[in-house]
Amino acid sequence: MSQQPKSQNITKIETKISREDREKMMGQKGVTVWFTGLSGSGKSTVAIEVDRILTNRGAVCTILDGDNVRHGLNSDLGFSPEDRNENIRRIGEVAKLFTETGIINLTAFISPYRADRDRNRQIQGEGDFIEVFVDAPLDVCEQRDPKGLYEKARAGIIPEFTGISAPYEAPEKPEIVLNTGDQSLEESAGIVIAYLEEKGYINKA
Ligand code: ADX
Repeated sequence: MSQQPKSQNITKIETKISREDREKMMGQKGVTVWFTGLSGSGKSTVAIEVDRILTNRGAVCTILDGDNVRHGLNSDLGFSPEDRNENIRRIGEVAKLFTETGIINLTAFISPYRADRDRNRQIQGEGDFIEVFVDAPLDVCEQRDPKGLYEKARAGIIPEFTGISAPYEAPEKPEIVLNTGDQSLEESAGIVIAYLEEKGYINKA
């Protein structure tokens, strides 16, 4: 459900290589693995580990990460509900492009609003979008506080901080739940990889 383009007189091009051809050549199926969870829950850490393991196995992967994308493509956006909404909308479109190119696309954004994540699921279609809820409790994330941001949020220095002064809406039916508070990184990455193997996105090791 993309919004109507502002431009008129635009037509879509067709490529001569189909998505299926690309997937066949790469020996995998394109998919977006959408990690969602609080800051410090481990989204990027698990995505980076899955990327490392799969790339070493010959898969073609990419990572889209909140902190990175906000330095470039989304450097004009902050953390108001509207800006987060636009952040996730743009990423959804980029993710769709990667998926349609046959790439295993690992995204790590807090993406706190259920409606924004559901819209991205819709624009990609079932089977192209795997939602992974990185379910570490707030107190665990706050204890980890890898960037010192929770401390600043509690002190009122950072406004609209997810989990402290801005909401996080947990997924209702994620394909995968990771309890990174209890699991090792190896276990969490293993769960994602086993799911991708089981559903036929990648070949078994
Ligand atoms: S999202 O809510 O729009 O999905 P995104 O994943 O892009 O957020 O960026 C989150 C990262 O930005 C956090 O991991 C943290 O490092 C940083 N950050 C800075 N300010 C905030 C804030 N107010 N709320 C949440 N994260 C913030």
